[in-house]
Amino acid sequence: MSTGPNSFPISQGRLLDFPDDPADCMRRLYRQHGEVAALEDHGQRIAFVFGPKYNHQVLSDTATFHSRFFPIRGPRNSAQRRLTSGLLNMNGDDHKRHRRMVAAPFQRSSISNYQDGIADLARQMVWSWKAGETRDMSREMNEYMLRVTSGLLFGFDQHDLAYQIGRATERWVTMNHEVGMGAFVSDPDITASYGTLLEYADELEARIRQMIELRRSTPAGTDVLSLLLQARDENGHGMTDGELIGQAAVLFGAAHLTTAHTLTWALFLLSQHPKVAGELVAELRATLSEASLTFEQTEQMPLLNRIVKESMRVLPASAYSQRITSEPVQIGPLALAKGTVVVFSPLISHRMPELFDQPERFLPQRWESLSPAPYSYIPFASGPRLCLGSSLAMMTVKTTLPTILQRFRLSVVPDSVIDARVIATMLAPTTGMPMQISAATSNYTAPPVTGTVHKLVDLRTGEEEMQSSRQAA
Ligand code: HEM
Repeated sequence: MSTGPNSFPISQGRLLDFPDDPADCMRRLYRQHGEVAALEDHGQRIAFVFGPKYNHQVLSDTATFHSRFFPIRGPRNSAQRRLTSGLLNMNGDDHKRHRRMVAAPFQRSSISNYQDGIADLARQMVWSWKAGETRDMSREMNEYMLRVTSGLLFGFDQHDLAYQIGRATERWVTMNHEVGMGAFVSDPDITASYGTLLEYADELEARIRQMIELRRSTPAGTDVLSLLLQARDENGHGMTDGELIGQAAVLFGAAHLTTAHTLTWALFLLSQHPKVAGELVAELRATLSEASLTFEQTEQMPLLNRIVKESMRVLPASAYSQRITSEPVQIGPLALAKGTVVVFSPLISHRMPELFDQPERFLPQRWESLSPAPYSYIPFASGPRLCLGSSLAMMTVKTTLPTILQRFRLSVVPDSVIDARVIATMLAPTTGMPMQISAATSNYTAPPVTGTVHKLVDLRTGEEEMQSSRQAA
């Protein structure tokens, strides 16, 4: 494949352009340079790779491309150091050993155990809604996923403490990102909050320790923390409390907003494509009864599957992630020094026209025949660090959407501003998602919306296109 219109892969510019608007910056770099690009400012460089060839190099060579999700480590023996020591900051043998232990609660057999708890929370949420109301679905999904993630990780039976840990972790992850950006670009205003971050880490750690004690005293739990307490490596060693704290924090951070945004974007795209939404409701009616939704059923709905895949292609919750080079390395035309940040991006890879026809359209039917080459469709990344929670996330989404759509139709309030922005690596609906709630039987047409979401997805439906071509004729 070509390296794009300009084969010299380096753009001189402010490094801050990237954190200011990651989606815009990455799209510009891809347009200018193709599959390998770099942004350079006074000798400091961030490298970018797009598409399967270089995704493969960066994601499979874990010895050269290290993961360092939380750059602010805090002093040795600090709560911040322990909280940032989970899988996303581990490399080499340490990562392999811990990944095997952390994987246990995410096996298929464990996941089906969580489904009832998730379905209960989904029903509670939906039963609190009424036809005729307007709600911000982004806020609803964030709150709902806070309950789901707290329950999964720390137990549905310890609701209050689990929920408090969830809220505190959410805040801590955001603070890390804000302070991390300061370290990345040396912004004194942001780095001033370093001390606050360390204090907050102490508080969060104290709550997680409390939960660990609680789980130790009730060893039969099926929540993720209880299963991690039982996990052993090949030599029969378990995790220390410090290690458990790091894994719990990373799991929470990895699971909560990624799944919440995935749900919000899927609801948005369905609202904008009423014909697809109608077909999905017909599939749900044919497959499900009001009372039951089993794990097996969530896997037996082909249209639901295609809709979720397509939604995660066009508006992927994880917009980008990064690695840091452990030694000098060549990526295509670009020579990188040790310690260079390398960004890979599901958002950009998923909109490469040579991989996906009409990439900016939401076309679930493309998945009837499409099977993308390895490393081109990467909503959960790929390779040795593939998202550990991908099956759990898919089960959660495929349990939640049917529970909502069996009861209600959701339609974006006409003329809403829907902005899509990348915050802390995630593609988030930053102006909320105001939606009108109607009875499941009602019909609607796609309401017009404005906002930056139009930069990422072409919202013309097939019917509109036919209409405009008829008008033109
Ligand atoms: C739709 C929801 C989700 C999306 C889009 C998503 C996406 C991703 C992506 C792109 C990565 C790779 C990050 C990187 O390598 O830098 C990742 C890693 C990870 N995810 Fe997820 N994730 C989701 C849900 C979850 C859930 C529910 C959990 C667990 C409860 C989870 C746990 C993890 C873990 C532990 C890793 C690190 C794996 C490793 O480094 O070995 N994720 N996820």
